[in-house]
Amino acid sequence: MILVLDFGGQYNQLITRRIRDLGVYSELHSHKITAAEVKEIAPAGIIFSGGPRSVYAEDAYRCDPEIFDLGIPIFGICYGMQLMSQHFGGTVERAGHREYGKATLTLQDPSPMYANLPLEQTVWMSHSDLVTSVPNGFVVDGTNVSCPIASIKNEELKMYGVQYHPEVNHTVFGKELLKNFLFEVCKCAGDWSMENFIEIEVAKIQEQVGDKKVLCALSGGVDSSVVAALIHKAIGDQLTCMFVDHGLLRKGEAESVMKTFADHFHMNVIKIDAQDRFLDKLRGISDPEQKRKIIGNEFVYVFDEEASKLTDMDFLAQGTLYTDIIESGTDTAQTIKSHHNVGGLPEDMQFELIEPINTLFKDEVRELGKELGLSDEIVWRQPFPGPGLGIRVLGEITDEKLEIVRESDFILRDEIKKAGLEREIWQYFTVLPPIRSVGVMGDERTYDYAVGIRAVTSIDGMTSDWARIPWDVLEKISVRIVNEVQNVNRVLYDVTSKPPSTIEWE
Ligand code: XMP
Repeated sequence: MILVLDFGGQYNQLITRRIRDLGVYSELHSHKITAAEVKEIAPAGIIFSGGPRSVYAEDAYRCDPEIFDLGIPIFGICYGMQLMSQHFGGTVERAGHREYGKATLTLQDPSPMYANLPLEQTVWMSHSDLVTSVPNGFVVDGTNVSCPIASIKNEELKMYGVQYHPEVNHTVFGKELLKNFLFEVCKCAGDWSMENFIEIEVAKIQEQVGDKKVLCALSGGVDSSVVAALIHKAIGDQLTCMFVDHGLLRKGEAESVMKTFADHFHMNVIKIDAQDRFLDKLRGISDPEQKRKIIGNEFVYVFDEEASKLTDMDFLAQGTLYTDIIESGTDTAQTIKSHHNVGGLPEDMQFELIEPINTLFKDEVRELGKELGLSDEIVWRQPFPGPGLGIRVLGEITDEKLEIVRESDFILRDEIKKAGLEREIWQYFTVLPPIRSVGVMGDERTYDYAVGIRAVTSIDGMTSDWARIPWDVLEKISVRIVNEVQNVNRVLYDVTSKPPSTIEWE
């Protein structure tokens, strides 16, 4: 295991990710971790990340100095190298000018960090401070015109530092440098995979839970599905899943969740049929924010009420991801959005939390899901918002309108699947705006609804472009919707990107 200490650099998540991709397990921890805690984790090596501050500033992020005495190899990147240099008596000063971009690194008698790499290479710099005198016991093994101390080594202590950023793609041999740290210096085995992640996590869950019981809110989405499957593997029947059907799910969704988890995996799944409760609360409400609030609050009431009937539950399982933790703020990163837990459940519920995938990224969760035997349908499920179809029927929600969205969405999904476009399009669904228009069917005039198709490409949902679904596929979808869905005589295609639009219409 390689420990990455977080000093606030923008690329820190990338470092852990690159290391895992090289087959070595890695976790990002706060720079506040103590030497005793590090000793307990017993990593094969430590990486000090980059960071925006100056090591000589009063509010500089520091680490427990005893970490340098643990005898564990350390690799300092940018700020990390400066901190290490300062600790060993070197000097760090403001550079004449901020250096940002490509630079040429020239090596002399390089350390094993550069095993099998050329003596001249292109690297990516991004810094305002420089190490200006070499720390005691260290030797310079790489220089650059504007940064004479660009790479340092202390072979005896197995400590190395670079001013540039090996974790970004612009550093041509960056991956090889990290690889050399892992395998030449730290002698890692490189056998980490999802399979042993499962082994490690199953053991951890068994130890944490003992003979107690765990409740998991199952939504059918990939994160909660993977958490349920993983915990079930660890503790079997000590897990109970609760699936709330709020009546705003897509066609066939509730059945498919029950089929997968209750029938196939033989899990204890309690299905709460709360459709009427939600629809009653939503009657007559057309403001999108009010609708969202009602659905969110109602979910909490229902879950709380039902969970309190299960008096012997001790833990609540959540599908929190690594990115959720990072986005909700760490010791060094600003809060981007508040931590969203399953359905926004309140903090004061009488449960201890269990979050077994909170060190994974989304694509790793998918890989884990596959490894646990979940179907492609679940593993590759497109994102689906908590408020469900409630925000796709625009304005007031009625049973008739929900049916139109449900049926048209089913046709869209079916045709996208037939056309083999499922993985290319990030998210695709239909919406029902509150408009009617005139049409003609047979010889009769109609005055019916228009259904909108929304299909986008995106990486993280923060920005998106409209998907270029081929015309002939759109034609099939349109023909089927007006023929098969009652009260629809027109189909629209949304051709706006985000921004300025959002992906959902409400
Ligand atoms: P927007 O509409 O903001 O959506 O561009 C971005 C992504 O987030 C999903 N979304 C939600 N997901 N609860 C969720 O779990 C919500 O309330 C919610 N609202 C939007 C949306 O489907 C898209 O993938």
